[in-house]
Amino acid sequence: MKVVKVGILGLGTVGGGTVNVLQKNQQDIGRRTGCKIIVTRASARDVTRPRICSTDGIQLTTNPKEIINDPEIQIILELMGGEEPAKSLIIQSLKQGKHVVTANKALIANHGNELFEIAAENNVVLAYEAAIAGGIPIVKAMREGLSGNSIEWLSGIINGTGNFILTEMRDKGSAFADVLKEAQELGYAEADPEYDVEGIDAAHKLCILASLAFGIPLNFKKVYTEGISKITPLDVTYAEELGYRIKHLGVAKKTDVGVEMRVHLTLIPENRLIANVDGVMNAVLVKGNAVGPTLYYGPGAGADATGSAVVADIVDLCRQIDSPAEQRVPPLGFASNELKELPILLIEEVTTAFYLRLSVEDKPGVMAAITTILADNGISIEAVLQKELKQHGANTHVILLTDSVVEKSLLSALSEIESLSSINEPAIRIRVESLQ
Ligand code: NDP
Ligand code: HSE
Repeated sequence: MKVVKVGILGLGTVGGGTVNVLQKNQQDIGRRTGCKIIVTRASARDVTRPRICSTDGIQLTTNPKEIINDPEIQIILELMGGEEPAKSLIIQSLKQGKHVVTANKALIANHGNELFEIAAENNVVLAYEAAIAGGIPIVKAMREGLSGNSIEWLSGIINGTGNFILTEMRDKGSAFADVLKEAQELGYAEADPEYDVEGIDAAHKLCILASLAFGIPLNFKKVYTEGISKITPLDVTYAEELGYRIKHLGVAKKTDVGVEMRVHLTLIPENRLIANVDGVMNAVLVKGNAVGPTLYYGPGAGADATGSAVVADIVDLCRQIDSPAEQRVPPLGFASNELKELPILLIEEVTTAFYLRLSVEDKPGVMAAITTILADNGISIEAVLQKELKQHGANTHVILLTDSVVEKSLLSALSEIESLSSINEPAIRIRVESLQ
């Protein structure tokens, strides 16, 4: 059996999970590839720390360059995260003719265009299945399984930590900080958990998914990003009364006027499968023009789940290690000279329906004033809910679901509504997606 030697930069959650998966499934992986895959070296900042995997037979070092410079190692796994030194180490590996597998979505989203070019120049592969949605083989599905389609849109719950937090808060009433701590202990969160909470991690993944879907170069800076921290239990309850769940979604859509790339809290009808994706699970709904809607579901974070995706890339590499470059699947699924820039829409140019919560004085004529302003701005109302907060005469919550409207029209109507003397606080607004 042919031996393929692998070196790992970073033996934390994903690195350890990868070693565990390779060991646990050694036989099946050998039968699939015809290769014996051996991890010979691994690096970490502190090699004395206990690991979640066995390190028997693995030479540990604090110096990743020793691994890159080992001539026997053909595949480097970059599983340390962060920008530097990860980026420089990947470039050095590619330039030395080594294939690289990474789980580093921040790096791919921000520097993927450059890194894929360096990989191509050196006739090697930079693989990244683990970078999006943990264990779900979504890159494989988008690049190969759906390659007969023109992708119309995709929509996904693509951050395990965020979904875990929203679920635990909703189901158990747990405090935000406690659930985040639990997610960190379970190995789900990023080194800087703000990336999870503020939607940056989801935006990295969405940017890559949009390129895979529409054949556009990676353009992370154009992703509109909102996090999960502004959600309130009240809106969760009101949304449920209206038949919706609130999820943190990444949405990429190709329209006649340009591409939407956005990450934000979203109301989804409760009867959609994706509305019921809870905990650390992720799901990506992709609408192809031939196949229709397709849904991919699985664990979005965690050691073995992400290790499963890293190992899938290693298996792919073992199969094509000696094959000519032109037989390989291009990194973003489109021939690199066919990637085409498309206009990316500003969020104000995007059309969606909205959930609005207005805090109003409970007196005659208020509702009429609100609906008149909405009508004057061409905004239709789909549903209304009114909640008495205290005794008669005090504040009331008016909850409105609008029809689809261009965001700038909605903002202009809201600024008129908020200037009414009977409106007490800025409106809460959450976008609504029907996902059909
Ligand atoms: P961890 O923090 O658990 O592991 C990182 C590893 O890299 C550790 O072994 C650490 O050493 C080492 N390391 C970190 N920084 C440096 C450095 N500057 N120099 C040398 N070694 C370093 O992270 P994860 O395994 O969670 O994440 C790794 C990558 O995988 C990230 O890009 C992350 O975004 C991505 N990812 C993570 C998922 C998850 O579920 N956790 C899922 C999908 C992707 P030491 O152990 O000594 O601290
Ligand atoms: N922190 C990420 C998440 C890891 O929670 O989804 C997986 O990419």
